Amino acid sequence: MKKHYDAVVIGGGIIGSAIAYHLAKENKSIALFESETIGGRTTSAAAGMLGAHAECEERDAFFDFALHSQRLYRGLGEELYTLSGIDIRQHNGGMFKLAFSKEDVLRLRKMDDLDSVSWHTKDEVLDKEPYTSDDIFGASFIQDDVHVEPYFVCKAYAKAAKALGAEIFEHTPVLHVERDGDALSIETPKGIVWADHVAVASGVWSGMLFKQLGLNHAFFSVKGECLSVWNDDIPLTTTLYHDHCYIVPRKSGRLVVGATMKPGDWSETPDLGGLESIMKKAKTMLPAIQNMKVDRFWAGLRPGTKDGKPYIGRHPEDSRIVFAAGHFRNGILLAPATGALISDLIMNKEVNQDWLHAFRIDRKEAVHI
Ligand code: FAD
Ligand code: GLY
Repeated sequence: MKKHYDAVVIGGGIIGSAIAYHLAKENKSIALFESETIGGRTTSAAAGMLGAHAECEERDAFFDFALHSQRLYRGLGEELYTLSGIDIRQHNGGMFKLAFSKEDVLRLRKMDDLDSVSWHTKDEVLDKEPYTSDDIFGASFIQDDVHVEPYFVCKAYAKAAKALGAEIFEHTPVLHVERDGDALSIETPKGIVWADHVAVASGVWSGMLFKQLGLNHAFFSVKGECLSVWNDDIPLTTTLYHDHCYIVPRKSGRLVVGATMKPGDWSETPDLGGLESIMKKAKTMLPAIQNMKVDRFWAGLRPGTKDGKPYIGRHPEDSRIVFAAGHFRNGILLAPATGALISDLIMNKEVNQDWLHAFRIDRKEAVHI
Protein backbone atom coordinates (compact mmCIF):
# COMPACT_ATOMS: atom_id res chain seq x y z
CA MET A 1 0.00 0.00 0.00
CA LYS A 2 1.38 3.39 -1.00
CA LYS A 3 1.17 6.44 1.30
CA HIS A 4 -0.49 8.68 -1.29
CA TYR A 5 -2.89 8.16 -4.21
CA ASP A 6 -4.47 10.51 -6.73
CA ALA A 7 -7.83 9.03 -5.75
CA VAL A 8 -9.24 6.55 -3.25
CA VAL A 9 -12.50 4.74 -4.08
CA ILE A 10 -14.50 3.41 -1.12
CA GLY A 11 -16.63 0.37 -2.00
CA GLY A 12 -15.99 -2.45 -4.47
CA GLY A 13 -19.51 -3.00 -5.77
CA ILE A 14 -20.26 -2.33 -9.42
CA ILE A 15 -20.32 1.46 -8.89
CA GLY A 16 -16.95 1.72 -7.12
CA SER A 17 -15.35 -0.76 -9.54
CA ALA A 18 -16.61 1.22 -12.56
CA ILE A 19 -15.23 4.44 -11.05
CA ALA A 20 -11.84 2.81 -10.38
CA TYR A 21 -11.73 1.55 -13.98
CA HIS A 22 -12.49 4.94 -15.52
CA LEU A 23 -9.93 6.71 -13.33
CA ALA A 24 -7.29 4.07 -14.05
CA LYS A 25 -7.90 4.67 -17.76
CA GLU A 26 -6.96 8.31 -17.07
CA ASN A 27 -3.60 7.13 -15.66
CA LYS A 28 -4.50 8.19 -12.12
CA SER A 29 -2.99 6.28 -9.19
CA ILE A 30 -5.95 4.60 -7.52
CA ALA A 31 -6.64 2.57 -4.40
CA LEU A 32 -10.02 0.85 -4.07
CA PHE A 33 -10.98 -0.32 -0.58
CA GLU A 34 -13.69 -2.97 -0.15
CA SER A 35 -14.74 -4.16 3.30
CA GLU A 36 -15.57 -7.67 2.08
CA THR A 37 -15.02 -8.98 -1.48
CA ILE A 38 -15.39 -7.31 -4.88
CA GLY A 39 -19.01 -7.47 -6.03
CA GLY A 40 -20.04 -9.70 -3.15
CA ARG A 41 -22.89 -7.62 -1.69
CA THR A 42 -25.88 -6.01 -3.45
CA THR A 43 -24.20 -6.20 -6.85
CA SER A 44 -24.10 -10.00 -6.86
CA ALA A 45 -27.77 -10.17 -5.81
CA ALA A 46 -28.96 -8.27 -8.89
CA ALA A 47 -30.68 -9.80 -11.90
CA GLY A 48 -28.62 -7.64 -14.23
CA MET A 49 -31.39 -6.23 -16.42
CA LEU A 50 -30.37 -3.08 -18.29
CA GLY A 51 -33.96 -1.95 -17.91
CA ALA A 52 -33.86 1.67 -19.06
CA HIS A 53 -37.34 1.41 -20.58
CA ALA A 54 -38.79 -1.15 -18.18
CA GLU A 55 -37.81 0.68 -15.00
CA CYS A 56 -38.30 4.36 -15.91
CA GLU A 57 -41.83 5.75 -15.91
CA GLU A 58 -40.92 9.41 -16.58
CA ARG A 59 -39.04 10.89 -19.55
CA ASP A 60 -36.74 12.94 -17.34
CA ALA A 61 -32.99 13.41 -16.79
CA PHE A 62 -32.89 10.04 -15.03
CA PHE A 63 -34.31 8.29 -18.12
CA ASP A 64 -31.85 10.15 -20.35
CA PHE A 65 -28.94 9.08 -18.11
CA ALA A 66 -30.24 5.48 -18.04
CA LEU A 67 -30.49 5.34 -21.85
CA HIS A 68 -26.98 6.78 -22.13
CA SER A 69 -25.65 4.14 -19.73
CA GLN A 70 -27.50 1.36 -21.56
CA ARG A 71 -25.76 2.47 -24.78
CA LEU A 72 -22.36 2.51 -23.03
CA TYR A 73 -22.78 -1.25 -22.50
CA ARG A 74 -22.44 -1.68 -26.29
CA GLY A 75 -18.81 -2.60 -26.71
CA LEU A 76 -18.12 -2.65 -22.95
CA GLY A 77 -18.05 -6.45 -22.78
CA GLU A 78 -15.33 -6.62 -25.41
CA GLU A 79 -13.35 -3.74 -23.86
CA LEU A 80 -13.37 -5.34 -20.41
CA TYR A 81 -12.71 -8.84 -21.78
CA THR A 82 -9.57 -7.60 -23.53
CA LEU A 83 -8.16 -6.27 -20.23
CA SER A 84 -9.56 -8.78 -17.75
CA GLY A 85 -10.33 -12.03 -19.60
CA ILE A 86 -13.76 -11.97 -17.89
CA ASP A 87 -16.95 -12.35 -19.96
CA ILE A 88 -19.81 -10.14 -18.68
CA ARG A 89 -22.30 -12.67 -20.16
CA GLN A 90 -24.54 -10.23 -21.95
CA HIS A 91 -27.74 -11.81 -23.27
CA ASN A 92 -29.47 -9.88 -26.03
CA GLY A 93 -32.93 -11.47 -26.05
CA GLY A 94 -34.78 -8.27 -25.05
CA MET A 95 -37.76 -8.12 -22.71
CA PHE A 96 -41.53 -8.62 -22.80
CA LYS A 97 -43.31 -6.31 -20.37
CA LEU A 98 -46.55 -8.25 -20.03
CA ALA A 99 -50.09 -6.87 -19.80
CA PHE A 100 -52.57 -8.85 -17.67
CA SER A 101 -55.36 -6.24 -17.79
CA LYS A 102 -56.78 -3.40 -19.91
CA GLU A 103 -55.13 -0.93 -17.48
CA ASP A 104 -51.75 -2.60 -18.09
CA VAL A 105 -52.30 -2.27 -21.85
CA LEU A 106 -53.08 1.46 -21.58
CA ARG A 107 -50.02 2.08 -19.39
CA LEU A 108 -47.63 0.03 -21.51
CA ARG A 109 -48.78 1.50 -24.82
CA LYS A 110 -47.53 4.91 -23.67
CA MET A 111 -44.06 3.55 -24.55
CA ASP A 112 -45.02 2.72 -28.16
CA ASP A 113 -43.24 5.79 -29.58
CA LEU A 114 -39.86 4.86 -28.08
CA ASP A 115 -37.29 3.54 -30.58
CA SER A 116 -36.61 0.23 -28.92
CA VAL A 117 -40.25 -0.63 -28.09
CA SER A 118 -42.94 -2.39 -30.15
CA TRP A 119 -46.39 -3.57 -29.06
CA HIS A 120 -47.12 -7.30 -29.53
CA THR A 121 -50.59 -8.83 -29.47
CA LYS A 122 -51.19 -11.91 -27.35
CA ASP A 123 -50.80 -14.17 -30.42
CA GLU A 124 -47.54 -12.48 -31.39
CA VAL A 125 -46.16 -12.94 -27.87
CA LEU A 126 -47.16 -16.61 -27.80
CA ASP A 127 -45.66 -17.10 -31.23
CA LYS A 128 -42.29 -15.85 -29.97
CA GLU A 129 -42.44 -17.28 -26.43
CA PRO A 130 -45.03 -20.12 -26.52
CA TYR A 131 -44.77 -20.94 -22.80
CA THR A 132 -45.88 -17.47 -21.66
CA SER A 133 -49.15 -17.47 -19.70
CA ASP A 134 -52.33 -17.68 -21.75
CA ASP A 135 -53.91 -14.99 -19.52
CA ILE A 136 -51.99 -12.08 -21.05
CA PHE A 137 -53.60 -9.29 -23.06
CA GLY A 138 -50.38 -8.59 -25.02
CA ALA A 139 -46.94 -7.15 -24.23
CA SER A 140 -44.46 -4.40 -25.02
CA PHE A 141 -41.35 -5.89 -26.55
CA ILE A 142 -38.24 -3.91 -25.55
CA GLN A 143 -35.33 -4.82 -27.78
CA ASP A 144 -32.66 -2.87 -25.84
CA ASP A 145 -33.54 -3.97 -22.29
CA VAL A 146 -31.07 -6.86 -22.40
CA HIS A 147 -29.24 -8.30 -19.40
CA VAL A 148 -25.73 -9.04 -18.11
CA GLU A 149 -24.41 -11.02 -15.12
CA PRO A 150 -23.64 -8.32 -12.52
CA TYR A 151 -20.99 -10.18 -10.52
CA PHE A 152 -18.95 -10.74 -13.68
CA VAL A 153 -19.34 -7.12 -14.85
CA CYS A 154 -18.08 -5.95 -11.46
CA LYS A 155 -15.17 -8.40 -11.38
CA ALA A 156 -14.28 -7.45 -14.96
CA TYR A 157 -14.27 -3.73 -14.08
CA ALA A 158 -12.06 -4.34 -11.02
CA LYS A 159 -9.66 -6.67 -12.81
CA ALA A 160 -9.39 -4.30 -15.78
CA ALA A 161 -8.71 -1.39 -13.37
CA LYS A 162 -5.98 -3.49 -11.76
CA ALA A 163 -4.48 -4.29 -15.17
CA LEU A 164 -4.25 -0.52 -15.70
CA GLY A 165 -2.44 -0.01 -12.39
CA ALA A 166 -5.19 0.40 -9.75
CA GLU A 167 -4.58 -1.24 -6.38
CA ILE A 168 -7.52 -3.21 -4.99
CA PHE A 169 -7.74 -4.00 -1.29
CA GLU A 170 -10.41 -6.52 -0.27
CA HIS A 171 -11.35 -7.20 3.38
CA THR A 172 -10.26 -3.60 4.08
CA PRO A 173 -13.08 -1.37 5.35
CA VAL A 174 -12.54 2.36 5.39
CA LEU A 175 -13.05 3.38 9.00
CA HIS A 176 -12.62 7.11 8.74
CA VAL A 177 -12.16 9.87 6.16
CA GLU A 178 -10.87 13.21 7.29
CA ARG A 179 -10.69 16.52 5.46
CA ASP A 180 -7.15 17.38 6.31
CA GLY A 181 -5.41 20.42 4.80
CA ASP A 182 -4.17 19.75 1.26
CA ALA A 183 -4.85 16.02 1.19
CA LEU A 184 -7.65 13.80 2.49
CA SER A 185 -6.73 11.10 5.00
CA ILE A 186 -8.33 7.68 4.77
CA GLU A 187 -8.04 5.31 7.71
CA THR A 188 -8.24 1.52 7.27
CA PRO A 189 -7.22 -1.35 9.60
CA LYS A 190 -4.09 -1.68 7.42
CA GLY A 191 -3.05 1.93 8.03
CA ILE A 192 -3.71 5.49 6.88
CA VAL A 193 -3.34 6.68 3.30
CA TRP A 194 -3.69 10.17 1.81
CA ALA A 195 -5.39 11.12 -1.43
CA ASP A 196 -6.17 14.18 -3.54
CA HIS A 197 -9.69 12.86 -4.16
CA VAL A 198 -12.07 10.44 -2.48
CA ALA A 199 -15.05 8.76 -4.15
CA VAL A 200 -17.66 7.32 -1.78
CA ALA A 201 -19.40 4.36 -3.48
CA SER A 202 -20.43 2.19 -0.56
CA GLY A 203 -23.99 1.39 -1.65
CA VAL A 204 -26.63 1.28 1.06
CA TRP A 205 -23.89 1.54 3.71
CA SER A 206 -22.77 4.99 2.52
CA GLY A 207 -24.56 6.88 5.33
CA MET A 208 -21.68 6.49 7.80
CA LEU A 209 -19.17 8.10 5.41
CA PHE A 210 -21.61 10.85 4.40
CA LYS A 211 -21.96 11.63 8.09
CA GLN A 212 -18.20 11.73 8.71
CA LEU A 213 -17.97 14.19 5.83
CA GLY A 214 -20.57 16.48 7.36
CA LEU A 215 -23.65 15.31 5.43
CA ASN A 216 -26.59 13.66 7.16
CA HIS A 217 -28.21 11.95 4.17
CA ALA A 218 -30.41 8.95 4.87
CA PHE A 219 -30.07 5.71 2.90
CA PHE A 220 -32.95 3.24 2.98
CA SER A 221 -32.49 -0.47 2.48
CA VAL A 222 -35.08 -2.05 0.18
CA LYS A 223 -34.39 -5.75 0.41
CA GLY A 224 -34.90 -7.89 -2.69
CA GLU A 225 -35.16 -11.69 -2.65
CA CYS A 226 -34.51 -13.85 -5.71
CA LEU A 227 -34.21 -17.48 -6.68
CA SER A 228 -32.96 -19.37 -9.69
CA VAL A 229 -34.10 -22.62 -11.31
CA TRP A 230 -32.61 -24.89 -13.95
CA ASN A 231 -34.49 -24.74 -17.22
CA ASP A 232 -33.85 -27.91 -19.22
CA ASP A 233 -37.45 -28.05 -20.38
CA ILE A 234 -38.61 -25.09 -22.47
CA PRO A 235 -37.20 -22.53 -24.90
CA LEU A 236 -37.15 -19.01 -23.39
CA THR A 237 -34.90 -16.25 -24.71
CA THR A 238 -36.85 -13.14 -23.72
CA THR A 239 -37.00 -11.71 -20.19
CA LEU A 240 -40.59 -11.71 -18.88
CA TYR A 241 -41.52 -8.77 -16.63
CA HIS A 242 -44.67 -7.72 -14.84
CA ASP A 243 -45.34 -5.54 -11.83
CA HIS A 244 -41.69 -5.37 -10.68
CA CYS A 245 -41.31 -9.16 -10.99
CA TYR A 246 -39.26 -10.84 -13.66
CA ILE A 247 -37.93 -14.07 -15.11
CA VAL A 248 -34.51 -13.58 -16.65
CA PRO A 249 -33.11 -16.37 -18.87
CA ARG A 250 -29.36 -16.64 -18.26
CA LYS A 251 -26.98 -17.96 -20.91
CA SER A 252 -26.19 -20.88 -18.58
CA GLY A 253 -29.75 -22.24 -18.83
CA ARG A 254 -30.77 -20.95 -15.40
CA LEU A 255 -33.80 -18.70 -14.98
CA VAL A 256 -33.42 -15.94 -12.39
CA VAL A 257 -36.71 -15.08 -10.71
CA GLY A 258 -37.09 -11.85 -8.73
CA ALA A 259 -37.72 -9.92 -6.71
CA THR A 260 -39.41 -8.78 -3.54
CA MET A 261 -39.37 -5.14 -2.36
CA LYS A 262 -39.02 -4.95 1.43
CA PRO A 263 -38.30 -1.42 2.65
CA GLY A 264 -36.47 -1.16 5.96
CA ASP A 265 -35.27 -4.78 6.03
CA TRP A 266 -31.47 -4.87 6.53
CA SER A 267 -31.04 -8.68 6.57
CA GLU A 268 -29.19 -10.15 3.59
CA THR A 269 -30.87 -13.54 4.09
CA PRO A 270 -34.08 -14.40 2.18
CA ASP A 271 -37.13 -15.66 4.03
CA LEU A 272 -39.71 -18.24 2.99
CA GLY A 273 -42.54 -15.72 2.71
CA GLY A 274 -40.51 -13.64 0.29
CA LEU A 275 -39.57 -16.64 -1.84
CA GLU A 276 -43.19 -17.84 -1.85
CA SER A 277 -44.43 -14.49 -3.14
CA ILE A 278 -41.98 -14.40 -6.08
CA MET A 279 -42.70 -18.05 -6.95
CA LYS A 280 -46.40 -17.20 -7.11
CA LYS A 281 -45.81 -14.24 -9.43
CA ALA A 282 -43.42 -16.27 -11.60
CA LYS A 283 -46.07 -18.96 -12.13
CA THR A 284 -48.58 -16.36 -13.33
CA MET A 285 -46.10 -15.30 -16.05
CA LEU A 286 -44.67 -18.73 -16.94
CA PRO A 287 -46.77 -21.65 -15.60
CA ALA A 288 -44.18 -24.26 -16.73
CA ILE A 289 -41.70 -22.91 -14.19
CA GLN A 290 -43.34 -24.87 -11.37
CA ASN A 291 -41.74 -28.13 -12.57
CA MET A 292 -38.21 -26.76 -12.74
CA LYS A 293 -35.51 -27.71 -10.26
CA VAL A 294 -34.41 -25.10 -7.73
CA ASP A 295 -30.81 -23.94 -8.13
CA ARG A 296 -30.39 -21.41 -5.26
CA PHE A 297 -31.94 -18.42 -3.50
CA TRP A 298 -30.50 -15.19 -2.11
CA ALA A 299 -31.22 -11.61 -1.08
CA GLY A 300 -29.61 -8.18 -1.46
CA LEU A 301 -30.17 -4.66 -0.15
CA ARG A 302 -31.07 -2.04 -2.74
CA PRO A 303 -29.56 1.33 -1.80
CA GLY A 304 -32.64 3.55 -1.62
CA THR A 305 -32.96 7.33 -1.34
CA LYS A 306 -36.10 9.38 -0.65
CA ASP A 307 -36.77 10.21 -4.33
CA GLY A 308 -35.39 6.93 -5.71
CA LYS A 309 -32.57 8.74 -7.52
CA PRO A 310 -28.87 8.30 -6.78
CA TYR A 311 -26.51 10.89 -5.33
CA ILE A 312 -23.83 11.48 -7.96
CA GLY A 313 -21.69 14.56 -7.64
CA ARG A 314 -19.33 16.67 -5.60
CA HIS A 315 -19.49 17.44 -1.91
CA PRO A 316 -21.28 20.82 -1.68
CA GLU A 317 -18.35 22.38 0.23
CA ASP A 318 -15.33 20.35 -0.88
CA SER A 319 -14.85 19.48 -4.55
CA ARG A 320 -12.14 16.92 -3.71
CA ILE A 321 -14.84 14.58 -2.41
CA VAL A 322 -17.35 12.94 -4.76
CA PHE A 323 -20.27 10.63 -4.08
CA ALA A 324 -21.89 7.88 -6.15
CA ALA A 325 -24.43 6.02 -4.05
CA GLY A 326 -28.14 5.28 -3.87
CA HIS A 327 -28.63 3.57 -7.24
CA PHE A 328 -31.64 1.67 -5.85
CA ARG A 329 -33.13 -0.67 -8.52
CA ASN A 330 -30.76 0.31 -11.34
CA GLY A 331 -27.11 0.26 -10.26
CA ILE A 332 -26.12 -2.34 -12.84
CA LEU A 333 -27.72 -0.36 -15.64
CA LEU A 334 -26.26 2.94 -14.39
CA ALA A 335 -22.70 1.78 -13.61
CA PRO A 336 -21.00 2.71 -16.91
CA ALA A 337 -22.46 6.23 -16.98
CA THR A 338 -21.79 6.74 -13.25
CA GLY A 339 -18.17 5.58 -13.55
CA ALA A 340 -17.57 7.93 -16.46
CA LEU A 341 -19.33 10.90 -14.82
CA ILE A 342 -17.41 10.60 -11.55
CA SER A 343 -14.12 10.20 -13.39
CA ASP A 344 -14.89 13.28 -15.52
CA LEU A 345 -15.68 15.30 -12.38
CA ILE A 346 -12.37 14.33 -10.80
CA MET A 347 -10.53 15.06 -14.05
CA ASN A 348 -12.28 18.45 -14.25
CA LYS A 349 -13.73 17.63 -17.66
CA GLU A 350 -16.96 19.02 -19.04
CA VAL A 351 -19.99 17.07 -17.84
CA ASN A 352 -23.71 17.03 -18.63
CA GLN A 353 -25.22 19.71 -16.38
CA ASP A 354 -28.76 18.23 -16.44
CA TRP A 355 -27.49 15.00 -14.91
CA LEU A 356 -25.36 16.83 -12.38
CA HIS A 357 -28.39 18.90 -11.37
CA ALA A 358 -30.74 15.89 -11.14
CA PHE A 359 -28.39 13.84 -8.94
CA ARG A 360 -26.75 16.63 -6.89
CA ILE A 361 -26.12 15.93 -3.22
CA ASP A 362 -27.86 19.08 -1.95
CA ARG A 363 -31.16 18.68 -3.84
CA LYS A 364 -34.23 19.50 -1.80
CA GLU A 365 -35.63 15.96 -2.09
CA ALA A 366 -32.70 14.63 0.00
CA VAL A 367 -33.74 13.32 3.41
CA HIS A 368 -31.60 13.96 6.44
CA ILE A 369 -31.34 11.86 9.54
P1 FAD B 1 -22.91 -2.58 -3.55
O1 FAD B 1 -22.91 -3.61 -4.60
O2 FAD B 1 -23.63 -2.88 -2.29
O3 FAD B 1 -21.41 -2.22 -3.25
C1 FAD B 1 -21.06 -1.39 -2.17
C2 FAD B 1 -19.82 -2.01 -1.56
O4 FAD B 1 -19.29 -1.12 -0.58
C3 FAD B 1 -20.13 -3.32 -0.85
O5 FAD B 1 -19.37 -4.35 -1.46
C4 FAD B 1 -19.71 -3.06 0.60
O6 FAD B 1 -19.11 -4.18 1.21
C5 FAD B 1 -18.72 -1.91 0.44
N1 FAD B 1 -18.58 -1.06 1.63
C6 FAD B 1 -19.55 -0.56 2.43
N2 FAD B 1 -19.02 0.22 3.40
C7 FAD B 1 -17.68 0.23 3.18
C8 FAD B 1 -16.55 0.82 3.85
N3 FAD B 1 -16.71 1.62 4.93
N4 FAD B 1 -15.30 0.59 3.37
C9 FAD B 1 -15.10 -0.19 2.28
N5 FAD B 1 -16.12 -0.81 1.63
C10 FAD B 1 -17.39 -0.59 2.06
N6 FAD B 1 -29.98 -3.13 -10.82
C11 FAD B 1 -30.04 -3.15 -12.18
O7 FAD B 1 -29.56 -2.22 -12.84
N7 FAD B 1 -30.65 -4.18 -12.82
C12 FAD B 1 -31.22 -5.23 -12.16
O8 FAD B 1 -31.75 -6.15 -12.77
C13 FAD B 1 -31.18 -5.21 -10.75
N8 FAD B 1 -31.76 -6.23 -10.05
C14 FAD B 1 -31.68 -6.22 -8.68
C15 FAD B 1 -32.24 -7.29 -7.99
C16 FAD B 1 -32.14 -7.35 -6.62
C17 FAD B 1 -32.75 -8.51 -5.88
C18 FAD B 1 -31.45 -6.32 -5.92
C19 FAD B 1 -31.31 -6.40 -4.44
C20 FAD B 1 -30.91 -5.25 -6.61
C21 FAD B 1 -31.01 -5.18 -8.00
N9 FAD B 1 -30.48 -4.12 -8.74
C22 FAD B 1 -30.53 -4.13 -10.10
C23 FAD B 1 -29.89 -2.97 -8.06
C24 FAD B 1 -28.36 -3.07 -8.01
O9 FAD B 1 -28.00 -4.33 -7.51
C25 FAD B 1 -27.78 -1.97 -7.11
O10 FAD B 1 -28.28 -0.69 -7.46
C26 FAD B 1 -26.25 -1.95 -7.25
O11 FAD B 1 -25.71 -3.23 -7.00
C27 FAD B 1 -25.62 -0.95 -6.31
O12 FAD B 1 -24.24 -1.06 -6.47
P2 FAD B 1 -23.23 -0.38 -5.45
O13 FAD B 1 -21.85 -0.61 -5.96
O14 FAD B 1 -23.67 1.01 -5.16
O15 FAD B 1 -23.50 -1.18 -4.09
N1 GLY C 1 -34.18 -3.77 -11.06
C1 GLY C 1 -34.73 -4.96 -10.53
C2 GLY C 1 -34.78 -5.02 -9.07
O1 GLY C 1 -34.29 -4.13 -8.41
O2 GLY C 1 -35.33 -5.94 -8.55
